[in-house]
Amino acid sequence: MSIDKIPVHVSMIMDGNGRWAKERGKERVYGHFEGVNSVRACVEAAIETGVKYLSLFAFSEENWNRPDEEVTTLMGLMVKAMANEMDSLDHNGVRFVVLGNRDRLGPELNEEIDRCMKRTEDNQVLTLIIFLSYSGKWDILQAAKKMAMDMLSHPEDIEAVSMDDFGRYLVTDGIPDPDLIVRTSGENRLSNYLLWQGAYSEFLFVDTLWPDFRKDDFRKALETYAKRDRRYGKVK
Ligand code: IPE
Ligand code: IPE
Ligand code: MG
Repeated sequence: MSIDKIPVHVSMIMDGNGRWAKERGKERVYGHFEGVNSVRACVEAAIETGVKYLSLFAFSEENWNRPDEEVTTLMGLMVKAMANEMDSLDHNGVRFVVLGNRDRLGPELNEEIDRCMKRTEDNQVLTLIIFLSYSGKWDILQAAKKMAMDMLSHPEDIEAVSMDDFGRYLVTDGIPDPDLIVRTSGENRLSNYLLWQGAYSEFLFVDTLWPDFRKDDFRKALETYAKRDRRYGKVK
């Protein structure tokens, strides 16, 4: 079945890995491992449906406060998943982008990220964005600081700064705002995700745990989105 009104940018808050593992009597990390298969499924579904940007909230600034062992496993998983998936992503025309507070990632991970981003930078079928060590407030603050530095030498320009001008300092510069943000696992909150960019996104909260979220669920989310009426404050 074809879906009308395909969103340009779909974003996923991938939540519920720990609970998925717990339900099976396993360590939390098993949920993260299985979650990689859901990522692959959603990338495929995005390509099949014609979504141009798929962004995934993989690790928040707040997630650094988890036990060291889980953080280390997650970062290791990131390196491994990139190594395993990059040939196929590149082959399928996927541009791979990582956004977030890169200063907090180790040199090994940063080098691997740079290599993958460089390798796929000209691909045009789908842009896959991984938000890593990201939070919405961090993004807005780093943007404000950078803009303030730029304005130091010509404060007379401050008054004319527009929303679009400010948006160019966010890490998402050049990426359209998400049309649809989906959060899995039944949690109804944003957890400091795309605070600025999500100002007019459609939200969908589903009970499915992330490791169970596959192609059918992605397509269903798009069908739900297609029925939404986006008014942007106007009257029809
Ligand atoms: C999402 O799953 C993955 C990350 C936040 C890194 P969780 O690890 O938050 O799983 P739950 O929410 O505890 O089940
Ligand atoms: C949000 O999930 C962050 C990611 C999905 C990467 P969390 O599991 O960290 O969020 P809270 O703690 O339930 O708000
Ligand atoms: Mg969670």
